[in-house]
Amino acid sequence: MAKRQSLHGEWSSRWAFILAATGSAVGLGNIWKFPYITGENGGGAFVLVYLLCIALVGIPIMIAEIMLGRLGRRSPINTMRHLVREARANPRWQYLGWLGVVAGFLILSYYSVIAGWAMAYFFRVASGMFDGADADQVTAAFDGLLASPEVLLAWHTIFMLMTMLVVARGVRAGLEAAVRLLMPLLFVLLAVMVGYAMSTGVFMDGVRFLFEPDFSRLSGTSVLVAMGHAFFTLSLGMGAIMIYGSYLPQNASIAQAGFWIAGADTLVALMAGLAIFPIVFANGLEPGAGPGLIFVTLPIAFGNMPAGTLFGALFFLLLVFAAWSSAISLIEPAVTHLVEDHGQSRIQACVKAGLATWLLGIGTVLSFNWWADIKVFGKTFFDALDFLTANIMLPLGGLFIAIFAGWVLSRRDSERELGGDHLGYRLWHFTVRYVSPLAVFVVFLRSIEVI
Ligand code: PHE
Repeated sequence: MAKRQSLHGEWSSRWAFILAATGSAVGLGNIWKFPYITGENGGGAFVLVYLLCIALVGIPIMIAEIMLGRLGRRSPINTMRHLVREARANPRWQYLGWLGVVAGFLILSYYSVIAGWAMAYFFRVASGMFDGADADQVTAAFDGLLASPEVLLAWHTIFMLMTMLVVARGVRAGLEAAVRLLMPLLFVLLAVMVGYAMSTGVFMDGVRFLFEPDFSRLSGTSVLVAMGHAFFTLSLGMGAIMIYGSYLPQNASIAQAGFWIAGADTLVALMAGLAIFPIVFANGLEPGAGPGLIFVTLPIAFGNMPAGTLFGALFFLLLVFAAWSSAISLIEPAVTHLVEDHGQSRIQACVKAGLATWLLGIGTVLSFNWWADIKVFGKTFFDALDFLTANIMLPLGGLFIAIFAGWVLSRRDSERELGGDHLGYRLWHFTVRYVSPLAVFVVFLRSIEVI
């Protein structure tokens, strides 16, 4: 296969790529979603299934996705087009690229609204709004936010502007510069939060909740949720990692990068759990509170602890940073597609993609108030989008990426990209051929009864 160069630029080094991909992976998924779905699904047993999904499905597919990206060096759509042509495969494989572009656009539309909650909460906590507040007051404050479409829309608009501003500046001046600043900050803030949780005196309750498996609390849906979340949290199955891989210098080791990214992402999720659950337990709150977990339980705790205003503000700032570095990767596939196939400048492409995402986001904004009673399959607009993307589109995208990399792409190509026919390569090849597709397929089959 001929060597190609990306039209959009390249990361300045392998580490810049690892940082950017970790920035994509670490996001609302780790700090907002992981703790609340762990709480809803009973703790330890769910965490164990999730870790298994990361190891058996997530990491091999991460390596496959980076590899396909670097081989194609174009938008996910054109990367697939190119690889299909080279492999003389069925042209329908191109739809895999489309699936990714559409999934990213759908996810960002609601992701930005939730990131907006985090921004609102940064200001709320910093202003001392929750000082001495009790559970009823904090719940009322959260309900009040969800009931105000204009406030949600304002924050959603600001977050979309922040995102598109970075993306418009391009690969190095935008994406790379942003993650260089945001990622170290995020790690420091999170470490401070875990340190704080250790001082609550009930740290070990949090540890037990996360790591002591009780399988009786694991339902059929839990397994689907765990697998969907493994894809979501690693940003897999939708072309974000593929497009980031397309900017990876040719001499960098893909497998090593994949392990670093998945490792860092898992570490952050577990640290977020260790920061949040002790605070929840210390205040006698419910771990299974759902999407509002960190927006209701944490402010109660922050409002009633020493230096809570400071730590609370730091926590929500952290959440905004994490969401920001993920959001840019959700829209990058669509932007590169508009640049490559519609002859747009990067700025024009950003305006179009950003505007379309912003518009669709209004649906999520309204699903918490005016449209709260409009349900599709028993789900609100937001719940339906979340379920469709995280639990269906991403695993499906990941399944096809594994099949393409394992069965359609020639062994010669994957071997060359992954550094030769050594034991690690064979292990990977076997896993993407058999283990990962089978695991995704089985979980899917099981979930058909529960949908
Ligand atoms: N991984 C991000 C998170 O955990 C979300 C995301 C999904 C980003 C898919 C890009 C692609 O918040």
